[in-house]
Amino acid sequence: MKRFSERCVPTKHIFVREWKLGNKIFAKGSRPVYEICDKKGCNYVLKVMVAPKWFFNRELCFQIICAKNGLCKPVSDWWLCKKSEEEGGEEEEYIKGVIITPKLKETLESKLKKNIKMMNVKKKYRGVLDNFLLAMKTLKLIFDLHQKLRVIHGDAGANNIMLDYDEKLFLIDMGLSFLMSEPEPSTFARPRLSIDYDYIAESFKGTGFESLFRDIDSKLAKIEEKFEEYDEDNPFSAEKIKGKYTIEYILNFEKDLVEEELKKSIIDFPVYGDFYSY
Ligand SMILES: Nc1ncnc2c1ncn2[C@@H]1O[C@H](COP(=O)(O)OP(=O)(O)O)[C@@H](O)[C@H]1O
Ligand SMILES: [Mg+2]
Repeated sequence: MKRFSERCVPTKHIFVREWKLGNKIFAKGSRPVYEICDKKGCNYVLKVMVAPKWFFNRELCFQIICAKNGLCKPVSDWWLCKKSEEEGGEEEEYIKGVIITPKLKETLESKLKKNIKMMNVKKKYRGVLDNFLLAMKTLKLIFDLHQKLRVIHGDAGANNIMLDYDEKLFLIDMGLSFLMSEPEPSTFARPRLSIDYDYIAESFKGTGFESLFRDIDSKLAKIEEKFEEYDEDNPFSAEKIKGKYTIEYILNFEKDLVEEELKKSIIDFPVYGDFYSY
């Protein structure tokens, strides 16, 4: 399906479809991100992409796939721009297009930075707790992407994970994603399960919970063993066991680490019996 728009990007004065441009909220090279408004307000973002066609297609398709399971926000609108006369030629492979998705509140990266400051500078236990909660939500997010959708994100740093206004986590920036079933792509990262966890571990440096994401392959292997044990006498299907118990299982592996980190970071520690119910 090809969808072109005469005018590529709306302005503050000119609508394209029902969209009018808001403020620029992120500027990096040829991929700026703007707030964009419909009649109800500026609750969406528009990402302008000048990229090879395959890249644009991947970003769009994987965002749609990922949104089906609620791991990304849905694509609200998108279009390709008509090439102007001056363009073309050697840049033939490149296309310009826009993708519109609902606006999210902040990146995981900025949230983690705030929490680290809170726990190190202000000595507030809330920072540690929140990092722990975010680590759990991130594990679940990546785990679901892998297990339910059989998709690897490929660039799963904390700047590509965002919180919405209910503190729920969503993946963004799906252009480097691939299906586990795809042949190994030479142009970008290799489809190892742990590649996403490796990126994420980097992002959690300084939070105390980095090692939750390390050595994930061997943890998953242990979980697989555990499935076999469960299989014998568990009334649920293997699917359900996979979906439901694995993250808890990882958590149990790391219970000591979590408790230790919490104890050493916190001076006046409140009763914390409820941590694991997050
Ligand atoms: N849905 C969104 N809501 C709010 N901000 C967003 C949204 N999507 C992206 N951003 C902001 O724009 C930045 C760049 O977006 P991203 O899709 O990651 O592009 P890039 O390919 O340039 O990394 C993000 O790190 C985030 O700060
Ligand atoms: Mg990004």
